[in-house]
Amino acid sequence: MDHAIANSERPAAAGEERGMPDGFHKGFDDQKSEVVIPSLDVEHGAIPPWLSGTLLRNGPARFRLADRTLNHWFDGLAMVHSFDIADGRVSYANKFLDTPAMRAAEDGKLKYTEFASDPCRSLFKRLAQTFVEKRTGANANVSIGRIADEFVAETETPVPVAFDKDTLDTIGVVEYEDQLTGQITTAHPHHDPDQGMAFNYLLKFGPKSTYSVYQLPDGSRERQLVGKSGMVTKPSYMHSFAISAKYVILMEFPLVVTPLKLLLSGKSFIENYRWRPERGTRFTIVDRETGEVTHAHTDEAWFGFHHVNAVDRDDDLIDLDIIVYPTADVVQHFYLKSLLDGPNRNAYPRSELRRFTINTATGEVTSRTLADHSADLPRINYRYNTKPYRYVYANGVAERGESAFLDTIVKFDVESGEVGEWRHDNHFPGEPVFVARPDATAEDDGVLLTVVLDANADTSYLLILDAADLSEIARARVPQHVPFGFHGAYVRNAPRDL
Ligand SMILES: [Fe+2]
Repeated sequence: MDHAIANSERPAAAGEERGMPDGFHKGFDDQKSEVVIPSLDVEHGAIPPWLSGTLLRNGPARFRLADRTLNHWFDGLAMVHSFDIADGRVSYANKFLDTPAMRAAEDGKLKYTEFASDPCRSLFKRLAQTFVEKRTGANANVSIGRIADEFVAETETPVPVAFDKDTLDTIGVVEYEDQLTGQITTAHPHHDPDQGMAFNYLLKFGPKSTYSVYQLPDGSRERQLVGKSGMVTKPSYMHSFAISAKYVILMEFPLVVTPLKLLLSGKSFIENYRWRPERGTRFTIVDRETGEVTHAHTDEAWFGFHHVNAVDRDDDLIDLDIIVYPTADVVQHFYLKSLLDGPNRNAYPRSELRRFTINTATGEVTSRTLADHSADLPRINYRYNTKPYRYVYANGVAERGESAFLDTIVKFDVESGEVGEWRHDNHFPGEPVFVARPDATAEDDGVLLTVVLDANADTSYLLILDAADLSEIARARVPQHVPFGFHGAYVRNAPRDL
């Protein structure tokens, strides 16, 4: 039987009535105030003098329109935030992306299809209006990247929106200078600094859909096809992927869609996807050098948003680390109604950091738990991407089976399985971005930058933690709340560092 990913009403599960803290609700309050604050108050310490750069963050900041509330965390209207750090001081600015989706919202309307919200079907003159046409709102609310010489806000459709890093003014959708086509991509391209190349994939829907892995040279807008996996009957929802030194690896979770439904169902994007655990989990592996495509498979069904790292062990084995959930219920969990309405509120779904070892010669896959602790939004010291590494930083869940939302910073040691934690009651940190100390030699010699919602004060602050032991170095307080976002990037005031 199908398990629809939809915002259905459900009876309360055991434990839901225990009065779990709901301070995180404030992270979903709209923030319409666009500000420029030259110097934030610094608390609890001092900004390290060596820290000189800008933390750019992206995320939804408006969920409520005149006529309705958006359905899902992933649907909110994109806002870019910047924390400029230099000489022991921090300035802050925020601005909505100026996109068709935003301008439609200013009229009080939801005009474009988002992740889990759809305009009233009657608004569409033609049922067969194409998927791309419906998703041109360019609400790029997921991550920050670079294409050619521009900073971009990115999402899961291939419409990166360029913005000015200093003013946060929107420049416009980046036009690629190539012929590659597809309707879905990820907001998590990888970058190989040695090769000077970014990698991503495009999903092109059709009776038989295709995954095209491409590379994009630094400074270029011309994507180059690396390899293509065709004849995909039911494409998977893949929010990210992994690269090792030799391969690009797509982990195809059994959350799949019949493409025709996207055109004809009239439902929002994700509500067309179905959980099919009997498929197990497939892997499409593209050789970065030759473009050769191979496949691997495990009967185990897993779902995940965020890959962590992948390392080639020898000629045939790849270790692929990812935060996984045993089902795709986490997508359901982030519907605002079930997340914020007391009677239907569930504990955060159980997740873990898991290592999948793929034998590229035989197609066999084994896996084991690296850290049995619920978390998501993982980051590493990216200098170790594709290389043997030890530490993962993420948002964790303090009370597994109790907490409804991510509420800690965790540090996983993938060698020992040890978990370090930073937590503060009623404070809710976002994704921790690692910044290496200049001339660092140890993998964890640096700081973590994370934006924390202080639900007691109804404000947020930039928190700087020592990545070695998660001790606090300083806080810089924003005099208004920063809604929960997704991803960010730190840009050094010296050479490029994305
Ligand atoms: Fe993500």
